[in-house]
Amino acid sequence: MGPGVLARILEHFPKPLDPRLLVGMETSDDAAVYRLREDLALIATVDFFPPLLDDPYLFGQVAAANALSDIYAMGGDPILALNVVAFPCKDVGTEVLEAILKGGFVKVKEAGALLVGGHTIEDGVPKYGLCAIGTAHPAKILTNKAASPKDRLILTKPLGSGILTTALRLGLIKEADMQAMLESMLALNVKAKDCMLDVGVNACTDITGFGLLGHALEMAMGSGVCLSIETNAVPIDPLALSFAEEGVYPGGAKRNLAFKEGSVSVSPRVSQPLKWLFADPQTSGGLLISVPEGRAEALLSGLHQAGVLSARLIGKVLEAPKGTLVVA
Ligand code: CO
Ligand code: CO
Ligand code: CO
Repeated sequence: MGPGVLARILEHFPKPLDPRLLVGMETSDDAAVYRLREDLALIATVDFFPPLLDDPYLFGQVAAANALSDIYAMGGDPILALNVVAFPCKDVGTEVLEAILKGGFVKVKEAGALLVGGHTIEDGVPKYGLCAIGTAHPAKILTNKAASPKDRLILTKPLGSGILTTALRLGLIKEADMQAMLESMLALNVKAKDCMLDVGVNACTDITGFGLLGHALEMAMGSGVCLSIETNAVPIDPLALSFAEEGVYPGGAKRNLAFKEGSVSVSPRVSQPLKWLFADPQTSGGLLISVPEGRAEALLSGLHQAGVLSARLIGKVLEAPKGTLVVA
């Protein structure tokens, strides 16, 4: 999940002033980055939330893929992970918790990182996630503040996970009905990260709690540019669209849509259901990548060859109005 309330509170705290802190809280980036040596930076992030799937093993995998994504979004490789767990151990059998933890373990292993511990508290509402630690070369760190005019924008996963998990919670579908989105949520962003490092890109963030609109706006503000998104180019899960058309969407989509209204301009031609999708909070969403125009096609075909089949060119970066988002 993004910083939100936390960032607003911490805004009033003294800023850590240390040249080794390469990325802090200023532009709501995905993770903190700290330079250990000239050629080595540490990346740290934490993410956890209540179950959004019925199957605890799948939930554990998705929660872990989501937490690890913040390392990939910075251009890094995860090395260590710690479980963050709240669970009603007194009321619910520990086999459920075991399945969640097994899911997390499997994804951390797939990422090539080590699961080295964690912390559990007794809580009525279960929550699970990871504190993840990664590394990168300091010069290769990708932030959300270096998108440049004339860049093209690529999104690597379809939108709609918030809408579909809402439909699941309301009992309108079963997990088996949302297979395509499940696979997308289970997929680590590691292949997309490898492709962007191969090609060389300017900026990146992953799409999570603030939806495409929120995270794209953060990139626009962080970079001092305008992000222009082409509605028809955005990859969207068709089942999620059909639920949005029926008025099924999470409360977070409504909050995201109301957020910073003045800085986001959405064409009146964009239908309300599509607006719900653009504002839909994503869990284990894709990467939003700002890539120099001349490398955009190479990155897109690299992504498709690597199996990131939903990746699409969704727009471009303009010089002005700075710090804004246009959806046309
Ligand atoms: Co996060
Ligand atoms: Co993130
Ligand atoms: Co402890």
